[in-house]
Amino acid sequence: MQKTFEYRELGLVNTKEMFAKAMEGKYAVPAYNFNNMEQLQAIVTGCAESGSPLILQVSGSARKYANPVFLPYMVQGAVAMVRDMGSQIPIALHLDHGNSFELAKDCIDAGFSSIMLDGSHLPFDENIAMTAEVVKYAHERDVTVEGELGVLAGIEDEVSHEVSSYTQPKEVVEFVERSGADSLAISIGTSHGAYKFKLKPGEPVPELRFDILEEIEKQLPGYPIVLHGASSVTPEHVAMINQYGGAMDSAVGIPAEQLRRATGSAVCKINIDSDGRLAMTAIIRKIFTEKPGEFDPRKYLGPARDELIAMIKDKNENVLGSAGRY
Ligand code: G3H
Ligand code: 13P
Ligand code: ZN
Repeated sequence: MQKTFEYRELGLVNTKEMFAKAMEGKYAVPAYNFNNMEQLQAIVTGCAESGSPLILQVSGSARKYANPVFLPYMVQGAVAMVRDMGSQIPIALHLDHGNSFELAKDCIDAGFSSIMLDGSHLPFDENIAMTAEVVKYAHERDVTVEGELGVLAGIEDEVSHEVSSYTQPKEVVEFVERSGADSLAISIGTSHGAYKFKLKPGEPVPELRFDILEEIEKQLPGYPIVLHGASSVTPEHVAMINQYGGAMDSAVGIPAEQLRRATGSAVCKINIDSDGRLAMTAIIRKIFTEKPGEFDPRKYLGPARDELIAMIKDKNENVLGSAGRY
C-alpha cells in the first residue's frame, strides 16, 4: 500500500509564489524532468548551486519507472540534500502531462505539490471539465494545477501527435475561468523530443509564434504561461553523441535566444527534458568508447551527473534567468 504524504512533509511548495516572483522579475522557473537518482541529484544540485527556484517534473511513465512508492522518498532525500548544502531554494514536485483524474489524485495523495492535467487533445469542453475536476481536488489541498490549450507535435507521455495546432488566444480566458487552472501551457511552435524541426540544409530554425504569445498575454494579463518542448537540443551534445557511435544527425531544438526572449514575457515555467537526456547520453557514450573495459556504473553515471549539473547551471544562468534569485 502506498503511504500518503502531504507535500509540505516532503519539504516542497506549490508553484504560486515562485510564479509570482518570476512574473515580477521577468525570468522563468526551470521545470526539469527526471527518472532516476543521478538525474534528480544533478537537477537539485545545479539549482541549489545557482540559487534557482525549481520544479521537479515527473511524467506518468517516469513515475512508473522510478516506482510510485519509492518516488516520494527520493524527492524527500533530494530536498534534504539541498538543505544540507545550505540552500533554501523553493522546490515543487510536478506531475507532467497527467492524463486522468485518478493519476492526478494519486500523485497529490503521494506528495506532489503541482499537477499538469493535459487535456489538450480533447474537445474544448471536455478539456475544461477534466481540468476543473482536478482543480477542485487539488485546490482543496493547496496544490496548483497547470492546464493546456493547443497541441504540441511530438510525444507527450505515450500520446503522440504528428502535427501541432497553435493555441487560439480567443479561447484562453474562457478556459482559465471555467477550469480554474493556475497556469496555462500553450502551443506556439515548440514540440517535444530531440527532432523539433525538419530543416533543409542551411535552413534556419523558424521563429516561435511570439505574436500568439503576445495576444495570449493581452487576454490574460499577469497570468502564468508555460512553455513545453523547450529543449535547445544542445549541438555540442548531439555532436558528441554522433562522434561516439550515436545516430542523431537531424536533431534540432529551440535556440537559446528565443527562449531568453520568452522569459521576458508572461512565460513563468520552461520545460526541459531532452537536453538532460542528451547531456548524460553524450558523456556515457564517450566513456564507453574511450574505456571499453569500464563496467563500474559510478565511473560513467558519475561523470554524466556532473555534465548534467553543468548544463542545469548554464540554463539557469544564461537562458532562463532564474539563477541568483534565492
Ligand atoms: O513531455 C514529455 C516529457 O519529456 C516526458 O517524457 O513520457 O518519456 O517520460 P516521458
Ligand atoms: P523537451 O523534449 O523539449 O525537453 O520538452 C520537455 C517537456 O515539455 C516536458 O513536459
Ligand atoms: Zn511537455
